[in-house]
Amino acid sequence: MGNINASVDLRRDGEIAVVTVDNPPVNALKHEVRAGLAEALRQARDDATVKAVVIACAGRTFFAGADITEFGKPPQAPGLGEVIAAIEAMPKPVVAALHGTALGGGFELALACHFRVAVAGARVGLPEVKLGLLPGAGGTQRLPRLIGPEKALKMIVTGDPIEAPEALTDGIVDEIVEGDLTTGTIAFARRVAAENRPLRLVRDREDKLSAEGFADAAEALTRRLRGREAPAACVEAVRNAIVLPFEEGLKREGELFRKLVAGDQSKAQRHVFFAEREAARVPGIPEGAKPRPIARGAVIGAGTMGGGIAMCFANAGIPVSIVETGRDLLQKGLDRVAANYRATVSRGGLGAEEVERRMALINGVTELDAVGSADVVIEAVFEEMELKKRVFGDLDRVAKANAVLATNTSTLDVDEIARATSRPRDVLGTHFFSPANVMRLLEIVRGAATSPDALITAVTLGRRLGKVPVTVGVCYGFVGNRMLARRSVEAERLLLEGALPQQVDAAVTGFGFPMGPFAMADMAGLDVGWRIRNGRGERNEIEDALCEAGHFGQKTGKGYFRYDAGSRTPLPDPEVEQTILDASSRAGITRRAITQEEIVERMIFPMVNEGARILEEGIATRPGDIDVIWVYGYGWPVWRGGPMYYADQLGLAHLRDRLTLYAERSGDETLRPATRISRLAAEGRGFASSAPA
Ligand code: CAA
Ligand code: NAI
Repeated sequence: MGNINASVDLRRDGEIAVVTVDNPPVNALKHEVRAGLAEALRQARDDATVKAVVIACAGRTFFAGADITEFGKPPQAPGLGEVIAAIEAMPKPVVAALHGTALGGGFELALACHFRVAVAGARVGLPEVKLGLLPGAGGTQRLPRLIGPEKALKMIVTGDPIEAPEALTDGIVDEIVEGDLTTGTIAFARRVAAENRPLRLVRDREDKLSAEGFADAAEALTRRLRGREAPAACVEAVRNAIVLPFEEGLKREGELFRKLVAGDQSKAQRHVFFAEREAARVPGIPEGAKPRPIARGAVIGAGTMGGGIAMCFANAGIPVSIVETGRDLLQKGLDRVAANYRATVSRGGLGAEEVERRMALINGVTELDAVGSADVVIEAVFEEMELKKRVFGDLDRVAKANAVLATNTSTLDVDEIARATSRPRDVLGTHFFSPANVMRLLEIVRGAATSPDALITAVTLGRRLGKVPVTVGVCYGFVGNRMLARRSVEAERLLLEGALPQQVDAAVTGFGFPMGPFAMADMAGLDVGWRIRNGRGERNEIEDALCEAGHFGQKTGKGYFRYDAGSRTPLPDPEVEQTILDASSRAGITRRAITQEEIVERMIFPMVNEGARILEEGIATRPGDIDVIWVYGYGWPVWRGGPMYYADQLGLAHLRDRLTLYAERSGDETLRPATRISRLAAEGRGFASSAPA
């Protein structure tokens, strides 16, 4: 008894052996933990005075899963399967004490225990699918036996955890304890030992294993997951649980896991997992810099973005004021927020009471003075520099000292806006994506004068709002939109050369995006860009012709596609086709057939090229930051790891050669490979190898 190793401790509480694991921050089941668990279990088994065993974790959570950093390295015994086998072979009760997030291998270990006890705030789940995997330690075989295949499949294919009370109802958890978890679990263990309760293992249960409804459920759950290998493997494994003996199902699960873990999709998804966490580390922040406390927020402008941003605050439980220029506009904005919440209620996403609680956190006002109590102010007024400068000048007067002053601008110079105040160190950009209450990406724009603590305040707030914050520098369009602009230019060029919108969109969705560039343009509305171009004396041959003919996108039932009344399904439009043919002939272009492969390359490579320039200029810190931006802001298929990761997989020499070809063919010098691409390609390296440590 005592310390087994640096991560595992075994102590006695009377006749109960208590194994406590402490491997911060999330108690991942790394080798030392597994070895310590195996040894602790052996000692508890061999000690005849031990009547029951409790497995608990110190710190903020029960095991959050296997140690992802060990994937792809040579396996070290004991594996998790061996630890689990030792639990199941135990001749006395083993009770898991769950708190925090019992995920993946951690939850699978708990499923092998005879009993599970939890605190009310605990959550359990099998998120492996989010890493391109399936649960590889028996989860696909045990969970269906415990709660039935249909519900198990839902948890496994979505990867979303459930809360302890639901787990109790489902029979996953045997008891929810109030007060101290370990004390409660020890008492529970003492009780089951005293009562001599039969030690029933989940693996031996057969009563819930019905195939009824399984095929339909599988179809419904995987319909929208085209191109992904892991969800299909999850379905296969759970089906095996129904039709095969336990050991055989377990063996197949292991085979599927090993195939996935070695595959490209899971590698890409693991890259995104770590890149997301890396992105939260902002360079140049001095040791000891602390985020400022945020108890209240304010949003200026109750339009499309302002309303969504206010919802983010309310959803996170932070009171927020929203400021408009007049009563009517304010009411309109608040009505839109309420309607959004009502839609969530009708989809079953939220209870009506909860919505009321959140609406009560949003305080609509028409006087700017109301922002005086806010710790952070986010401006979301029209995209006009003079207006924004005026608003920031006013904020400078009314906002309290040390408040973070943020602009949601999508294109304007944050430094110029900052100079409209006497405190540019408190000013930065928070670029939310539309719809702001849904999209996870948050580009945080660091101005020349932004102070490190204002910056980390914004990053910390972003995470509190459930966003994925990525810090970027000041330039037109920042990172995401600046790269997207390259895709738009190329998409238009493809139409002029011979492609049609439906072909381009099909190539892009075939690659894995949920939507093609033209359906996306129709959704956003074509008229906005048209008005901007008109103002600047610029022209876009096809899109301007469409706008002149009233094709503003979905809002007018026609854009690049046509839409039947009440439908959002894009349909090919002969009128648009004619407009495109006319534009080609006006430009003197002989149209040609364009392959899907060429479309994909031209939709992606110019963006990567821009991404390389963005890295050269230091606008983004790491290639992984750009990947995270594209996965969370633009629907880049996560199993392809993001544009910079994808380019690395293809090889930068290939990218260099294709970009050179496209530059020469089009005469567009911006398509020439960026210096960084040429240099890395010549050195036989990728973006990842050039990232700062
Ligand atoms: N392995 C290794 N490191 C992990 C990890 C894991 N399973 N889970 C989290 N970490 C690391 C993170 O990289 C991060 O490290 P840094 O601080 O160095 O950046 C740190 O732990 C904290 O993580 P978060 O910032 O994500 O903390 P959070 O409190 O926001 O979230 C969490 C905690 C919900 C557990 C979240 O980290 C998470 O979802 N982790 C992944 C869980 C998972 O996918 N488990 C399944 C693993 S696969 C498996 O178990 C296979 C199997 O069947 C055997
Ligand atoms: P919007 O036109 O829907 O809303 C702007 C609102 O600001 C209007 O309700 C207007 O009455 C209000 N307003 C104007 N002046 C004001 C003032 N002095 N005080 C208080 N309120 C004032 O615009 P939207 O789309 O919400 O955009 C807002 C900002 O967010 C812009 O800078 C835009 O570039 C940016 N943005 C927009 C995105 C989008 O998809 N719509 C995406 C990301 C950023």
